Amino acid sequence: MAFRARIAKFAIGGAGMKHRKPEPHWSGAKPPALDKSLIPNHVAVVMDGNGRWAKQRGLPRTAGHEAGEAALFDVVQGALQIGVKELSAYAFSTENWKRSPEEVKFLMGFNVDVLRRRRDEMNDLGVKIKWVGRPNRLWKSVISELEQAEKLTKRNSVMTLNMCINYGGRSEIVDAVSDIAELVAKKKLKPSAISEKLISKHMYSPKMSDVDLFLRTSGEERTSNFLPWQSVYAELVFMDVLWPDVTRQTLWDAIEIYAKRNRRFGNA
Ligand code: IPE
Ligand code: IPE
Ligand code: MG
Repeated sequence: MAFRARIAKFAIGGAGMKHRKPEPHWSGAKPPALDKSLIPNHVAVVMDGNGRWAKQRGLPRTAGHEAGEAALFDVVQGALQIGVKELSAYAFSTENWKRSPEEVKFLMGFNVDVLRRRRDEMNDLGVKIKWVGRPNRLWKSVISELEQAEKLTKRNSVMTLNMCINYGGRSEIVDAVSDIAELVAKKKLKPSAISEKLISKHMYSPKMSDVDLFLRTSGEERTSNFLPWQSVYAELVFMDVLWPDVTRQTLWDAIEIYAKRNRRFGNA
């Protein structure tokens, strides 16, 4: 009986692999019943407000980052429950190097720890982890941890989790332009062959799909250099919740808002 119950917790994911089903929310909350066509395929989240959350409690900023870990992995569970196929999480931007050396150091170590702590759980759930970002300046320890997580989860296909670390939208475009210019200089590519599709292929993650729902937390209403190329037709949703207070319910609320939008893509 116990054995049967254990089997029932597994679902068949992509490529016939067995994966654990997402954990239901402790409150018993269930995702909104929406038609499949109304569920965003790719959700991008700007995980913002950790510092303010900590300040409100008289805690150091780093305590806010620590509290944000549970929020991210609850959102992952909620995304799996509702059927999102790609989730991009903005964890460290190319502008975040401007912060104090202590905070930068903390964030580098923290990202290593989070990846190490969570990779098996993500693997069990059938989540493919992908690093999206620029190698320059990023700590070797972080790159190595990201590569290990990618290797472990590369066969998974239930959902892709893009960990955007040392990511900047402009740097991504600059790096793509530089790659393409090099191909042209070496006569491996004709300028007339440069298309939107080709540029997409030179982004940090060529397989990334366009963003459907762009979710910014903490009450700020800006995109802060996150996925500009991929978000040109994304629906923007701004939630006035500090990241550590975010739960899967916040994601589901944003998806309900998204589902009511009328996406036209320039059509009449
Ligand atoms: C987001 O929280 C985490 C990172 C940018 C790394 P913040 O640290 O930006 O928190 P606030 O915006 O100062 O409250
Ligand atoms: C965006 O948050 C970057 C991440 C969440 C990693 P910031 O706190 O850096 O953004 P701004 O400075 O408020 O635009
Ligand atoms: Mg911030």
